[in-house]
Amino acid sequence: MAEHTIGLIGCGVMGQNLALNFERHGYPVVVYEADAQKLKNYLAGQAAGRRITGVATLPELAATLAAPRRILLMVPAGQAVDECIAQLLPLLDADDILIDGGNSNYLDTNRRAARFAQRGLRYVGAGISGGEAGALRGPAIMPGGTPAAWADVKDMLQAIAARTSAGTPCCDWVGPAGAGHFVKMIHNGIEYADMQLICEAYHLLREVLGLSVAEARAVFEAWNQGELESYLIEITGRILGQRTADGQPVIEQILDTAGQKGTGRWTALAALELGQPVTVIAEAVFARCLSALQEERVAAAAVLKARGGAESQAEPISAAELRQALYAAKVISYAQGFQLLRAAGKMYDWDLDCGRIASLWQAGCIIRASILQPIRRAFERDPGLPSLLLDPFFVEIFAAAQPAWRRVVATAVQAGVPVPAMSAALAYYDGYRNPRLPAHLLQAQRDYFGAHMYERIDRPRGEFFHTDWT
Ligand code: 6PG
Repeated sequence: MAEHTIGLIGCGVMGQNLALNFERHGYPVVVYEADAQKLKNYLAGQAAGRRITGVATLPELAATLAAPRRILLMVPAGQAVDECIAQLLPLLDADDILIDGGNSNYLDTNRRAARFAQRGLRYVGAGISGGEAGALRGPAIMPGGTPAAWADVKDMLQAIAARTSAGTPCCDWVGPAGAGHFVKMIHNGIEYADMQLICEAYHLLREVLGLSVAEARAVFEAWNQGELESYLIEITGRILGQRTADGQPVIEQILDTAGQKGTGRWTALAALELGQPVTVIAEAVFARCLSALQEERVAAAAVLKARGGAESQAEPISAAELRQALYAAKVISYAQGFQLLRAAGKMYDWDLDCGRIASLWQAGCIIRASILQPIRRAFERDPGLPSLLLDPFFVEIFAAAQPAWRRVVATAVQAGVPVPAMSAALAYYDGYRNPRLPAHLLQAQRDYFGAHMYERIDRPRGEFFHTDWT
């Protein structure tokens, strides 16, 4: 059992559970929390009888820890992290390590890591996924930082992490500086897409297949036994089974307006900045934004009607077809997420191992799912795979799922049920497999109004031409 005491800053639910997890694995924890009452309650409650102690100030925390200090920061991402760092920096000595375990933006982590390096200190930006339960029982951890920092935090982080069924810890060094938080951001982007796709499938089960909440629950429970098996499908079934005291489904009482803290939006922004078509995650973010216009939607519903009896013309679809559509669209969102990881790896010179990243997500985290096994195998077979879509396993999946996927999207369009993520996934699939997109016309338009020039199909790339269109 390890004995190196860990410092923890921030006694929110994640921090509390991570401390319990560390202590259970042989690491005593000293906690600093600005809210003295909160700390007192924790120490007298869950932490009672354990080697978890509290300090009232940051200087006390620094004085308690042996060199090199290992401090885990669990405060809300953004300004709170910078404020904490400002207070902490004068108290640290060479080689001390600060681990930011929050959902920090990777650009902030890049900046903070550089600042620490200048002072001979070490900074680890570690994405941690799994919510409260994961923090306690074993989260997935995605650390980024210098290899030397990783060597000193590897044992303690891997000790508390979840493990795959093969016993591999869902925690490994992913790359320098902000790489860990970038990987966590992509995890969250995929989480957004997964959740939106599930919501679209639920909407279709209810509106097109006409199922009750209880019947839809049974469908999700059945889906969780097959290739869609995942934490998010599992909790969806449980959510649909939850009843109020008077027997009504709780789901029916929840306002249809989605919140978001920003990681999905950051993924979409990174995709735009790196020029990557990460359409499913972006649509999932926009779907949350549209849901948030709740009052406007209610007013619009009275004015904007589906015309031409579209609902009645909708082709019947089966739950089995919906399952295939959901699976295919889900693979597209993972493929896009990995494509963005690849692009960031090139941009920032991070040597990201996509197979290992897939295995980090196999347990402990919110997007844990059976599908991560074939994804991991695809990247192990070919570490340079340009897209998951081209892996032979997934080529077959798409071939089999395509008829159902097209029918589901077509039916949703006819019925007037919005499926932005599922249809964006299909449009991406059709775009990616198309050898000649109408971008030649687009180039002509650009050349027409702005003399932006175009390349020709019969000349080498890089030679540009202009037509005098008028
Ligand atoms: C996780 C979750 C976690 C958190 C999200 C929620 O991996 O454990 O992703 O990080 O629940 O930040 O994000 P939104 O509030 O944006 O949905």
